Amino acid sequence: MQLKFDWLIVLENLRRGIMVTDVTLQRPDGPRILYVNRAWIKMTGYGREELSNKTPRILQGKHTDRDVVGSLKTKLLNREVFHGQTWNYRKSGQPFLMNWYCYAIYGERPTPMYYVAEQEDVTELEGLRLKQRLLVNPNDAEALRFFSILEEWKVSRKRAR
Ligand SMILES: Cc1cc2nc3c(=O)[nH]c(=O)nc-3n(C[C@H](O)[C@H](O)[C@H](O)COP(=O)(O)O)c2cc1C
Repeated sequence: MQLKFDWLIVLENLRRGIMVTDVTLQRPDGPRILYVNRAWIKMTGYGREELSNKTPRILQGKHTDRDVVGSLKTKLLNREVFHGQTWNYRKSGQPFLMNWYCYAIYGERPTPMYYVAEQEDVTELEGLRLKQRLLVNPNDAEALRFFSILEEWKVSRKRAR
């Protein structure tokens, strides 16, 4: 099997968003974003030129679950794989549910070289699941919160017009 082919073209055309950062986790500057693929740009609305010296925290906002992003940090420091989901925000301010894996990439050395994330917007899928749950229980707290966050955005956008 030949490994010599254009990896960048493959990365650029993956269906999931890909983000690569350096391995500094300290606030406020780390982890610095080094690369994002096209699916990531489409998902978030940010352009590559806006991302130099930025961290993935640009995606966080009011409803981002601090426990989830805190557990990402703990997992990475323990050299484990993170998988989780929380509210993130596009450049426009629109909330979406980000579902992602995050882990270290190793080169020749035993210390991590990069952190990489495979990311997906699962808002639509979760919306369908939670609509079903509301049919069974119209007071389902998780489902009500989900739809109220999306509604809050719709209302604020209308007001801004
Ligand atoms: C490769 C990578 C991708 C990340 N992607 C996201 C993301 O999509 N959304 C998010 O809220 N945090 C993401 N983070 C987490 C934040 O960058 C940060 O590590 C997290 O907020 C915990 O650190 P803090 O408590 O200092 O904020 C990512 C981190 C890494 C290393």
